[in-house]
Amino acid sequence: MKEYINSQKWRYAVKKYDTTKKVSAEDLAYLKEAIQLSVSSVGLQPYKVIVVGNQEMKEKLAAAAGGNNANLFRDASHILIFANEVNVNDAQVDKYVANVSEVRGVPTEAVAGLGDYLKNFLGTLTDEQKNIWTAKQTYIALANLIHTAPLLNIDATPMEGFNAATINEILGLTEKGLNASLVATIGYRHAEDANQHLKKVRKPEGELFITL
Ligand SMILES: Cc1cc2nc3c(=O)[nH]c(=O)nc-3n(C[C@H](O)[C@H](O)[C@H](O)COP(=O)(O)O)c2cc1C
Repeated sequence: MKEYINSQKWRYAVKKYDTTKKVSAEDLAYLKEAIQLSVSSVGLQPYKVIVVGNQEMKEKLAAAAGGNNANLFRDASHILIFANEVNVNDAQVDKYVANVSEVRGVPTEAVAGLGDYLKNFLGTLTDEQKNIWTAKQTYIALANLIHTAPLLNIDATPMEGFNAATINEILGLTEKGLNASLVATIGYRHAEDANQHLKKVRKPEGELFITL
């Protein structure tokens, strides 16, 4: 537990990456597994994560980022785009339920109730509500990445400061029923990134928690 808390104290949202250092395939696999293990509402994981290590593509995507975020896109080892499913529907539920049946080795009839429950739940939401709901799930996956990376001495920057439409267009996400909800860059802090020396600013415990 101490290791985890210390890693959270070590991490910060990096503002300048060391372009000479790249995240290894082994570490990237751990980060992907951590994202894969993320919890999600009703277990649907209604998103995909696009992992970009190709320099040319990173530079192309930088056009979608504002201010210093463009430098982060360009200089980080990898960019991860968390793209929520748009207008999630019965097809995704059927896929999920089939996965539950296969992984747990239970007949489809035994999980039919789960499918009906999920379809019914989604049926109560408007398209806008569904898209907000799927986008919310991407924040949980992002959190898993942000919490795991420092345990591997990897830095990360979560980002909302980008033009989703531009990213959607570059990566052809709209045709795939996806929308760029969140971005995280990963890599290694530059020795000259002044932010690494700043004290962490968080609400005092008494202000954050209400203890009953
Ligand atoms: C959802 C989300 C969006 C963020 N968007 C950006 C961003 O676009 N650019 C950036 O440099 N930092 C961004 N940040 C980083 C926050 O500003 C930073 O995490 C916060 O100020 C706390 O500081 P720390 O992470 O260094 O401890 C974002 C963080 C989160 C969680």
